[in-house]
Amino acid sequence: MYRLILIFLALIAIFYIFRCKAGGEFPGREYMPDMAHSRPYDVYYPGPGTNSDILNESGAQEVDYLLFKDRTTARKPVEGTIARGYAPYPYNNNEEGYEASVAYQNPYTANLKSGEIPKDVLDVGKEKYDVYCGVCHGAKGEGDGSISILSGGPYAGVPNYYADTYMEMPEGKMFHSVHYGRNDMGSYASQLTKDERWKVIAYIKSMQQKKAMDQKKLGKAAALMYVQGNKASIPTSPTGEFISSKLTSIDKLEKGKAITLDNVFFDTGSANLRAESYYELNLLKDILTNNAGSRVEISGHTDNAGNPASNLTLSQRRASAVFNYLLSQGVGEGQVTAQGYGEARPVAPNDTPENMQKNRRVDFEVID
Ligand code: HEC
Repeated sequence: MYRLILIFLALIAIFYIFRCKAGGEFPGREYMPDMAHSRPYDVYYPGPGTNSDILNESGAQEVDYLLFKDRTTARKPVEGTIARGYAPYPYNNNEEGYEASVAYQNPYTANLKSGEIPKDVLDVGKEKYDVYCGVCHGAKGEGDGSISILSGGPYAGVPNYYADTYMEMPEGKMFHSVHYGRNDMGSYASQLTKDERWKVIAYIKSMQQKKAMDQKKLGKAAALMYVQGNKASIPTSPTGEFISSKLTSIDKLEKGKAITLDNVFFDTGSANLRAESYYELNLLKDILTNNAGSRVEISGHTDNAGNPASNLTLSQRRASAVFNYLLSQGVGEGQVTAQGYGEARPVAPNDTPENMQKNRRVDFEVID
């Protein structure tokens, strides 16, 4: 008997729970509605609990959760508008866009005179690189990350950043590929902000820059130009070698010892300044302009071969040639003097051709 009553009550309960509204008066019951319906507002979708079929007493639509008439809870931006501070990526996702992206410049590495990429940029770049790129491209950029085929993973064709094409790949192109993705590599436009993408690329370039310094024997500044695909702009010596100047790392002039202008070139036995010297002399000009309170002496020196008197004259004429060039570039006459010392101040014994070469030089020294 009790059993029968229990079964009867259970049937009634089931009837109440599952009886739905369709066709009947009874609104029905929902079993655990929280699980069936999302409670949060979905921004661009109609809010929960709305029902366009239900009209209220004045005949208007029933609105309970609604914020806007189209029953969304947030407004989309007006078509064609751009958020403040956001610059859209200007190149299309096709080959023309890819080629044009060469002109897109990394704000952190463009025109870095010293070639020294700031540490805080590289710190962020490395952090993001290790998270997002290293699994394929490898910690050192050799294409051997854990999911690359080189390490037994599924991804084939992950490039080695030290292959020529990638060593000299302009940063704009890299940005383009990271922005849109390229073949097996997906887009990182949603994982990394524009700023972070530039920092990651700066980090990749810094790894390549080190390689260029080792392999191509380039200075920091020249190595950066090289890995930016800009080797045509690296100044070269009369014998065609890339020039890198230690002057790129000098900001402030301090009184002290003489600094040799390593990349000032003359025709043999003459004071005819070669055009290849302008790179270094323009750096010196910038330093002098930025240190308008300092005065420097330009000094010419020779080795001990030949006649001491003509050596003295030659050294004087060479120092004057440098002096005149600086003045022609706008350096104030009061800021520089020129002096020839002939063979009187060697920096090495005149015993080997290399040492004699060291003695044939033009120096500059801060005098006050
Ligand atoms: C899933 C593996 C994978 C990940 C992760 C990955 N890449 Fe790549 N990447 C590739 C492959 C594969 C290619 C070769 C694409 C091609 O040219 O076919 C490539 C190519 C590139 C290139 C050369 C693009 C060009 O224009 O030729 C750059 C630059 C690059 N990746 C940077 C990145 C950066 C930065 C990240 C991290 C934000 C990253 N990759 C993450 C697989 C990956």
